[in-house]
Amino acid sequence: MPDAKTPGSKKLYVRTYGCQMNVYDSERMSELLGAAGYEATPSPDEADMILLNTCHIREKAAEKVYSELGRFKDLKAQRPGLRIAVAGCVAQAEGEEIVRRQPLVDLVVGPQSYHRLAEMAARAGNGTRALDTDFPEEDKFAALGRRSPAPRAPAAFLTVQEGCDKFCSFCVVPYTRGAEVSRPAQAILDEARDLVARGVREITLLGQNVNAYRCTRGDRPLTLAALIRRLAEIDGLERIRYTTSHPNDMGDDLIAAHGECDKLMPYLHLPVQSGSDRILKAMNRKHTAQSYLRLVERIRAARPDLLLSGDFIVGFPGESEADFEATMALVREVGYGQAYSFKYSPRPGTPAAERTPVDEETMSERLARLQALLRQQQQAAQERMLGRTVDVLFERAGRMPGQLVGKSGHLQAVHVDGADARIGDIRRVEITASAPNSLAGRIVAA
Ligand code: 5AD
Ligand code: SF4
Repeated sequence: MPDAKTPGSKKLYVRTYGCQMNVYDSERMSELLGAAGYEATPSPDEADMILLNTCHIREKAAEKVYSELGRFKDLKAQRPGLRIAVAGCVAQAEGEEIVRRQPLVDLVVGPQSYHRLAEMAARAGNGTRALDTDFPEEDKFAALGRRSPAPRAPAAFLTVQEGCDKFCSFCVVPYTRGAEVSRPAQAILDEARDLVARGVREITLLGQNVNAYRCTRGDRPLTLAALIRRLAEIDGLERIRYTTSHPNDMGDDLIAAHGECDKLMPYLHLPVQSGSDRILKAMNRKHTAQSYLRLVERIRAARPDLLLSGDFIVGFPGESEADFEATMALVREVGYGQAYSFKYSPRPGTPAAERTPVDEETMSERLARLQALLRQQQQAAQERMLGRTVDVLFERAGRMPGQLVGKSGHLQAVHVDGADARIGDIRRVEITASAPNSLAGRIVAA
């Protein structure tokens, strides 16, 4: 029998909910547990540890976690050594309630303490439970140490900033992820070089408020734009993206970078949430519909082919039909290539949760109208690609034999059949067909 420290002697099943930062965190937790002898498995049935990395942004996300946990009851009965861990924002927000409500759970770890996970895993199990939802002083990323040297997929996430000081009145993030903290630029550059050495060609910089990034080590503070320019100097790193941004933190230098930095891809996720100034004020967004529109104009002046993506909430408390119409008008004026839209969900502990909600039927009806418009715009953006030749970074094999799937600079999925290319290649592709969620094309000579 291999001993507990031998890599691969225990099996780890990870399920990730929610945002891209959770995808990044799951990867880092897997690497950390990998060093403690856990090898990834795609099946919970053979796992020695099940790790759910959870999301608390909307109601359904948390409910899904509880129902998922319930399903592991039989598995735990069959495998008494099985450890069940809950990480992420539900762990942070409801840690003690999870422990109370679900006896199957052995350990609960918040997003700021997951560097302690291996040590917690060693402690928990067989009736001993561990809970850590601290916001420790130490630098989590420094405590995590260097990343695993294993080769990996050509597109990667890299967290550069965490937490949020904006306190939009609907949002739990400032409570679950804590105050804004930016990682030192040097640590980010080192991690990016490590990723590139492992085969990565595209990096998406992550932060809840990524464009508020500010490294204060050194003589002058370093902004996100300056960080992007430093990253662009890394040979072998071909594409840079960042998400998610607040309109009020789009600095002039970042807008300029969109026009000047070839490696910065022409895609921007810039949530507006609502097109009504009254609702934006109630949301504590600190921008207006007009200031957002002016901003979009300036960004498009710097990079005319930029594809814009957004987030919208319908049915925020107090939203009238006229407020909702203002959102529709803003969407028509901006023209989004892609977007996410949600019904408002009261989050415990947030100011908006105290207010009278819009009724469910109205919310559903408004969401349907908004989504129909956004779908139309997305489809139009996809169709505009027809006949164009674009660079595609191939990321994985497709479902059909011989098919490869990659991403355009605009973050659209592109399928190519019988491609004479390998995963990790960037090739010129002529777009020959468009569907609502993907494009198809053929490789053309460079
Ligand atoms: N209800 C509905 N949507 C929300 N979001 C954040 N909090 C809530 C909430 N309480 C949405 C916002 C945000 C995205 C990540 O999730 O649109 O930009
Ligand atoms: Fe939440 Fe984003 Fe607002 Fe921060 S800026 S409170 S993360 S919606």
